[in-house]
Amino acid sequence: MRNIVLTGFMGTGKSSVGVELAKELGFRYCDLDSLISDEAGMTINRIFEQYGETHFRDMESSAIERISSQENLVISSGGGAVIRGKNRELLRSSGVMVNLQASAEEIYSRVHGDSSRPLLKNNMSLEKIGMMLREREPFYAEADLRIDTTGKKVEDVVREILRYLEGNI
Ligand code: S3P
Repeated sequence: MRNIVLTGFMGTGKSSVGVELAKELGFRYCDLDSLISDEAGMTINRIFEQYGETHFRDMESSAIERISSQENLVISSGGGAVIRGKNRELLRSSGVMVNLQASAEEIYSRVHGDSSRPLLKNNMSLEKIGMMLREREPFYAEADLRIDTTGKKVEDVVREILRYLEGNI
């Protein structure tokens, strides 16, 4: 099997689900944001502050290019990784794409106390989250499998993904 790519808005549970899913499958876990941050030697917030979003997106695209040629990885992608068409193409062709969803209200309640997300840092509101979700919806919708994580435990989501993989691989 190739890779499992988790996409989804900030706070939809990509990292928690990704770690558990990788364990279940015996795959390596790769968190794209951590990879970018480790390579840059600074936090994602700092990259945005110092170099701006476009530079971060270029780093993200470069990391996706490298990672998507590997195998047996569970890749947790940043919420905006699906914005660029080329990223989506690479991630899609790298394996199975699973999109994690949650309502704007649920996302707000999960991320509002967290200042590590530069795009929401100065504008953490339900309206902003709703607007970004609507903008990105067509990109998230390209996934092979979509799961609404609202009110679900990590293990429930992992089980749903495993069930899908059994029937489709
Ligand atoms: C972003 C999501 C973040 C991170 C960066 C930009 C986005 O990742 O890549 O802050 O554009 O939605 P998470 O989804 O892991 O929080």
